[in-house]
Amino acid sequence: MVLYSTTAAWSPITSHNMHVLVTGAAGLIGGRIMVALLQQGHRVTATDINPIPAATEGQIQGYVDNLVFVAGDLTDFKLVDRLFESGTIDGVAHIGGIRSPLGLDPRFVHNLNVTASYNVLQTAAAKGVTRIVQASSCNALGLSWTQPEHWQLDFVPINETHPMRPVSVPTVWDALTSRKTPIVCQSCKSIRQHSR
Ligand SMILES: NC(=O)c1ccc[n+]([C@@H]2O[C@H](COP(=O)([O-])OP(=O)(O)OC[C@H]3O[C@@H](n4cnc5c(N)ncnc54)[C@H](O)[C@@H]3O)[C@@H](O)[C@H]2O)c1
Repeated sequence: MVLYSTTAAWSPITSHNMHVLVTGAAGLIGGRIMVALLQQGHRVTATDINPIPAATEGQIQGYVDNLVFVAGDLTDFKLVDRLFESGTIDGVAHIGGIRSPLGLDPRFVHNLNVTASYNVLQTAAAKGVTRIVQASSCNALGLSWTQPEHWQLDFVPINETHPMRPVSVPTVWDALTSRKTPIVCQSCKSIRQHSR
């Protein structure tokens, strides 16, 4: 998980009534983040290319007044503009994308994940959003989708300071988005990077 905030030391969101954009809200991690934020009293704009699954719907029924769901594709930057058009987004949890590249054309995975992340992060920075959480992955270090005998770890336990090593084609996008995010956020000077 890579965190970005305006403060030198990351502090958890403790105030209520924040408005958080959650991408990938129909997915495993995004869905849980959406539910947790609603349970803590925050407002959520949730988005996904797929509908919220029935199991998650049951958990958000009591919070519909604090939730807006926008269906769409994050590679469409006009859709991404719409997600921010309220002008009230305080923070972004960018979780949407393709988790497993298995069985998919790696060029499709690359185009989708890298473009979607760029669209969300660049738009957030342009809109002055100063708190961003982006899901990274051990894929960026070349761990998943690679046989253990090909792992090259400089140290264990690993953390986010470990050099990225996308040794197989489908892992490249994770490294690319992880590298690109700080560059995008540097364009918004108030955002600093923290890794957890
Ligand atoms: N699940 C894990 O154990 C795990 C571990 C490490 C990192 N991650 C990372 O966390 C992120 C999310 O993982 P997850 O397990 O929640 O995956 P998931 O597949 O459950 O959820 C991803 C969501 O993104 C949505 N999505 C895909 N393409 C989209 C697009 N073009 N526009 C809008 N929405 C789109 C999907 O519909 C899906 O609901 C991934 O980047 C993954 O690499 C996951």
